[in-house]
This record gives sequence, C-alpha cells and structure tokens, in this order.
Amino acid sequence: MIPYHHMMAHFPIALLSLAFFVILLRSLTSNALVRRVDSTVLIYVLAAGVAGGLGALATGLMIWPTEAAVAGPMARNKILMATWTIVIWSVVLVLRWRMGENVWNGTGRYLMLVLGTTGIILASITGTLGGHLLGSPSALSAVLNQLGWNVYQTYFVPNWVLLLMFAVGLAGVVAGLGSGRKTAV
Ligand code: HEM
Repeated sequence: MIPYHHMMAHFPIALLSLAFFVILLRSLTSNALVRRVDSTVLIYVLAAGVAGGLGALATGLMIWPTEAAVAGPMARNKILMATWTIVIWSVVLVLRWRMGENVWNGTGRYLMLVLGTTGIILASITGTLGGHLLGSPSALSAVLNQLGWNVYQTYFVPNWVLLLMFAVGLAGVVAGLGSGRKTAV
C-alpha cells in the first residue's frame, strides 16, 4: 500500500513549524525584515499548513478501518490531537487573514504567540502518537507522562472542564462579535 499518510504528514509538520517560527519572531519584534516575512509569506504558509493537515487527517483515517481506529486509546488520542491541531491553526489563519498586520498590535501579539505555541505542541504530540502507532515511541510521550497524561490511555477531561472550555469559547465569540460591532459603528 502506498504510504500516502507518511508522505502527507510531512507537510503540516514542516509548514506549521515554519509558521510557528514566524509567529514567534513577529510576536517578539517589529524589525523590518521580520515584518516583511510576516506580510509576504505567513498567510500562505498557514493556509498550506492547514490544507496539509486536512490531507494528513484524511489519509490517516484511511489507514485502518474506522472500527479499528476508534477501538484503541492510542488511535483515539491521535484523532483527537490531529483534530485540535487543525482547528487551532485554522483559528490562527483566520485571525491573521481577517485582521491583517493589525493582529500584532497590543495584546494581539501575545494571543498569536499563545495560539501558535499551543498549535505546535499539539502538532508535535500528533506526530509522536503516529510514531507510537508505528511501534517507535519518542521521548515526548515520557514528558507528557510526567505532566500527567499517559498516552496509552484515552485523553480525558472531567465534565466540568468541558463546560468551562465551552463557556470560555462562548465568551470569546461574544467578545469578538461585541468588539466587531463597536469597530463597525
Ligand atoms: C494533522 C494530522 C496528522 C499528522 C500531522 C500525522 C502525523 C503522523 C506522523 C508524523 C506519523 C509517523 C510517520 C512516520 O514515522 O513515518 C504518523 C503515523 C500514523 N498516523 Fe498520523 N497524522 C495525522 C493524522 C492522523 C489521523 C487522523 C489518523 C487516524 C487514526 C492517523 C493515523 C496514523 C497511523 C495509523 C500511523 C502509523 C503509520 C502506519 O501504520 O502506517 N494519523 N502520523
């Protein structure tokens, strides 16, 4: 079988790592060269990274029958982390696209840095879980274990955390719509 997933997985890993590097530099400095790199390439690298992630997600889901993919904690964790990776980088893409270079003004640069850092950690965990599924674990899972998550068990959060995440998300949407309306007036 042609290893489409192995080939495809390189794109999000490489492109999102590059996007994170540009976000890190741009959130720490307004140097002319960094601003030019941000304004000329970041949006394209983000779009290609998210598209590559969707391709990796689709080819990853084709490797095993769905029943098998959702039967074990490792593959369940992989699907969860892969989906979160794509969602968070899609938010970064939409923020940079809709707000343009204004996204770096004020607290925006710290929001982009937090989202970018969370996104690259999720992408790294997704790749690491792929190595586990291939039978070659990496040291990152030992770090996750130290932090309290054994990757051989399905990632789990209590219901109150899910409710909190939902409430924070909703508050973010309301705040966003509110500030959008204010700027429109
Ligand atoms: C953003 C999405 C994804 C990325 C970046 C990604 C990345 C990776 C990486 C880096 C590997 C190791 C490849 C190697 O060492 O050659 C891998 C393997 C693997 N991934 Fe993914 N993956 C993604 C989504 C998924 C999804 C959604 C599934 C579904 C269960 C999946 C299933 C697998 C499997 C089964 C392997 C082992 C390879 C095999 O058995 O042939 N991947 N993935």
